Amino acid sequence: MENFRDLIPLVNKLQDVFSTISSNDTLDLPQIVVVGSQSSGKSSVLENIVQKDFLPRGSGIVTRRPLILQLITLKGEENKDTPEFGEFLHIPNKRFENFSEIRNEIEHETIRVAGTNKGISRNPIHLKVYSPKVLNLTLVDLPGLTKIPVGDQPTDIEKQIRGLVLDYISKPNSIILAVSPANQDLANSDSLKVARQVDPQGRRTLGVLTKLDLMDAGTNALDVLSGRAYPLKLGFIGVVNRSQQDILTNKPMEEALKAESDFFKMHPAYRNVAHRCGTPFLTRQLNNLLMAHIRDRLPDLKARLNSMIGQTQQELSSYGDPAFAGQAHRGTLILQLLTKFANEFVASIDGTSLSIST
Ligand code: GDP
Ligand code: NA
Ligand code: MG
Repeated sequence: MENFRDLIPLVNKLQDVFSTISSNDTLDLPQIVVVGSQSSGKSSVLENIVQKDFLPRGSGIVTRRPLILQLITLKGEENKDTPEFGEFLHIPNKRFENFSEIRNEIEHETIRVAGTNKGISRNPIHLKVYSPKVLNLTLVDLPGLTKIPVGDQPTDIEKQIRGLVLDYISKPNSIILAVSPANQDLANSDSLKVARQVDPQGRRTLGVLTKLDLMDAGTNALDVLSGRAYPLKLGFIGVVNRSQQDILTNKPMEEALKAESDFFKMHPAYRNVAHRCGTPFLTRQLNNLLMAHIRDRLPDLKARLNSMIGQTQQELSSYGDPAFAGQAHRGTLILQLLTKFANEFVASIDGTSLSIST
């Protein structure tokens, strides 16, 4: 699968089955949480994954409140021509169709709560993005880990941000994207340190190495990318995001992706591993992780469908009274529908390759 897009129909159908079983039950896809030191490239990576320009990025402390980004698939033919749009929890019923206005609003809302100086706030910004092209998925962008207080940051800023990050990544249902800049020593990587605290086996931590283009001439990160430098079961993926200069000149996302791809293909050290580098590969690996998660949830879904079928059958046999005939008929139909769904989904998933290749 090249893209999250390919997962959308499958996930949508499964979500339908879950919501038929119980209105407050969902497939509960893992949240993807991005962690790393300040300016390591977290927001840039997130933007690349979503393939949209909408996050404030830049040198210095830009992300100062958690951003909980909920992607929501617009379904059906009637939405085919609906433009993608965003909606903030703090401004109900206002549709943002212009994504640079979304960025402005995030900046504005950050300043409103976290102040104009360098302060941070635990209070999250909730943004929903509706689009036919996204998977129902939650991504979290967090303030960067820091050591030395600047501006009006309190003296215990390091502890505060670490606590905030730990809150999000301790959830067993989160995938940790641990971002480290390639132009700094991996031994000092804050993201790997904090990820190890909650995921010591490195089972749900995916390493992302940014700024490969900024490494000193003559050096490369091949040992990290090949897994020899630091053990992570899910491995490390190298990316090249847009530089500060690219941001200033509004370099379009497609151009940036092309430049990234060229970088890996032309680079003497990365040429041979180029197919396992870059943003598209990162997205594909996340996709695989989501598929693996869905596969893990299937036995539970099957068990609950079975018990629901049993329950419905019991109810039906108790409808002796002809007054309930209509209800009984409806019950039988739902039952048949669910069984058909369940069989189809299990077949479609079991037939899919789920192995996570790194
Ligand atoms: P965050 O603070 O971790 O969210 O980092 P940002 O995404 O805001 O990026 C911080 C700065 O680093 C910005 O100026 C980006 O343009 C720059 N940057 C991020 N990733 C890369 C990269 O891979 N290569 C280059 N050259 N610059 C990058
Ligand atoms: Na930054
Ligand atoms: Mg950021």
